[in-house]
Amino acid sequence: EVWNPSGKYRVVSTKPMPGTRWIRLLTDQDCRVEICTEKKTILSVEDILALIGDKCDGVIGQLTEDWGEVLFSALRRAGGTAFSNMAVGYNNVNVNAANKYGIAVGNTPGVLTETTAELAASLSLAAARRIVEADQFMRAGLYDGWLPHLFVGNLLKGQTLGVIGAGRIGSAYARMMIEGFKMNLIYYDLYQATRLEKFVTAYGQFLKANDEQPVTWKRAATMEDVLREGDVISLHPVLDKTTYHLINKERLSIMKKEAVLVNASRGPVIDETALVEHLRKNPMFRVGLDVFEDEPFMKPGLAEQKNAVVVPHIASASKWTREGMTTIAALNVLGKIKGYPVWTDPNR
Ligand code: DGY
Repeated sequence: EVWNPSGKYRVVSTKPMPGTRWIRLLTDQDCRVEICTEKKTILSVEDILALIGDKCDGVIGQLTEDWGEVLFSALRRAGGTAFSNMAVGYNNVNVNAANKYGIAVGNTPGVLTETTAELAASLSLAAARRIVEADQFMRAGLYDGWLPHLFVGNLLKGQTLGVIGAGRIGSAYARMMIEGFKMNLIYYDLYQATRLEKFVTAYGQFLKANDEQPVTWKRAATMEDVLREGDVISLHPVLDKTTYHLINKERLSIMKKEAVLVNASRGPVIDETALVEHLRKNPMFRVGLDVFEDEPFMKPGLAEQKNAVVVPHIASASKWTREGMTTIAALNVLGKIKGYPVWTDPNR
C-alpha cells in the first residue's frame, strides 16, 4: 500500500498500523509511505531486506522483528538514517549496530504506561478471582447452582502487592492496585521509586484520617524479599542479559503457594518451562501472562493449566495508546529525516 507516491523521502512501515494520523504526518512532509500488507504476522530478515530495497530513508518496524547488523547495514546502504520501533521495549533492536551505521533509533514510551498497567491489573484480578476459569465453566454449561466452594479465589484488600521493576509502568500499576484495592506495597528496583513512595505515604495518611486501615510500603533489599512476601507479584523490568529467566525454578519455590504472578513485560523474564512445572505442582498458585518466552508459542503444558490466564501480548492495545504509539513512531522517523529532534532515543 503506497501513500503520496511522488514524495521525496521513502518511509517503509513493516506493518499496517491503526489510524491514519501517522500517515498524514509523513505525507504532509513530503514522504512517500509504503506499508507492507504481507499476510504473515512475523516478517523475516529477508522479507524486511526486500522492503528496504535500494532506497529507503526510514523504517517503522515492530517488536517481532530482529533489527541487527544485517538490517541496519542494508538500511544505511539504501540511504536510510532512521529506525522507529513501534513499542516502548526495544530488546529486538541491536542499538550498537544501529549506531555503527549511523541510524537513529526511536521507541514510543509514555503513551502506553497506563494502558499497560491497566492490563497488568486486569490479569491480577482475573488470576486472583479465577475469572477465566469461571467463564469457561459457565460456557460449558456446568453451572447448576450456587455452591459455597465454587471458584473461591483471593481477596486483594490488605494483601501485599509485590512489584519488580518500579519504573513508569510498574509504578502506574502499583498506584492502581494500591488505590483500587488498598494493598500494601513491597517493591524491588535498582532505583528508588520516589514518586511512588510519596503516593503510598500520602494515601496511607488519607486512609488513616478516614479511620481506615492505612496501607504500608517498603523498598525491598533483595528481589527474593518481594517473592517471599508478595501475594500478588507483577514483573515490570526491561529484558536484557540480567533479567533473562529472572523468575526461575528456585525463585518460584520461595513464593507463597497461593501467590499470583503477573507478567506484562517480556516473556523470557520467566523460565516458562519451570513455571509450567510449578503451576502443575501448585494448583493454588496462579499466573496472568501477556507475554511468552517463545512468542507467539506457549511452552508445552501451559495451555492446559487452569491456574494460568493467558492473553496474546495485548497490554498496550487500547485505541488511544495505539494512536499515540503510531504518532510517535512516525514523528521519530520524520524527526531524523527532516532534522527535527527525534522524540525518543533509547541511547539517552
Ligand atoms: C511494548 O511497547 O514494548 C509492548 O510490549 C507492546 O506495546
